Amino acid sequence: MLVIEGLKSYYGKIMALKGISFNVKEGEIISIIGSNGAGKTTTLRVISGLLRDIEGNISFMGKSIVKFKPYEIAKLGIIHVPEGRGVFPNLTVYENLEIGGYTIKDKKRVKSNIEKVYEIFPRLLERRYQKAGTLSGGEQQMLAIGRGLIAEPKILLLDEPSLGLAPIVVKEIFKVIKKINREDKVTILLVEQNAKISMEISERTYVLETGLVVKEGISSQLINDDFVKKAYLGL
Ligand SMILES: Nc1ncnc2c1ncn2[C@@H]1O[C@H](COP(=O)(O)OP(=O)(O)O)[C@@H](O)[C@H]1O
Ligand SMILES: [Mg+2]
Repeated sequence: MLVIEGLKSYYGKIMALKGISFNVKEGEIISIIGSNGAGKTTTLRVISGLLRDIEGNISFMGKSIVKFKPYEIAKLGIIHVPEGRGVFPNLTVYENLEIGGYTIKDKKRVKSNIEKVYEIFPRLLERRYQKAGTLSGGEQQMLAIGRGLIAEPKILLLDEPSLGLAPIVVKEIFKVIKKINREDKVTILLVEQNAKISMEISERTYVLETGLVVKEGISSQLINDDFVKKAYLGL
């Protein structure tokens, strides 16, 4: 579904991605794990069209998207849930969700998608008139994912959904991510520093270190790999 080949990305003279290749098949949950500065966020920003000083190729459903604008990429169903949630603090939960539907002309469909998100995250329904900035970190993450779902993603790009959340909240959020994948058939590309939980939830994992994929494999096998255990699981 999504194929990345020899991808390099530059910030001025600095090369943040040094030629990475990976793929995501329809229906999968794929995780990219890596520590701070590895290039996880850069990878997602390149895929969603926000960074364009790049080399290599990105194709989605068989078609190269490297020349596409962020809006066009979102319209294809590639929806990015950014690091740090990116919710609008002064808007209500409902207004934030409405913004998620910006690529959809039919506003009735946006309304019905918002209803579906309330079913997935009942907490957002309870708090629909509350300003997003007053939500807890976990609720803001739910809102960020919910807003992504309004846009009817084929693939959801999730940037560190566990960041800054208590373990119990992380568990709750990851349970929902799995459910969205299974029941709503949304393919997921997850980037995370939390190696354990992302390998537990995903089919396959790529390990990113300073802009290079240094290891890849079936998550259930990688989780027992000596290198991964030592470097990422503290074992
Ligand atoms: N806007 C930027 N300008 C210059 N360098 C950047 C910028 N954003 C990120 N970088 C650098 O690119 C590398 C990868 O960063 P990033 O993709 O944010 O990593 P991660 O998300 O894995 O923590 C880091 O060395 C970081 O310092
Ligand atoms: Mg990041």
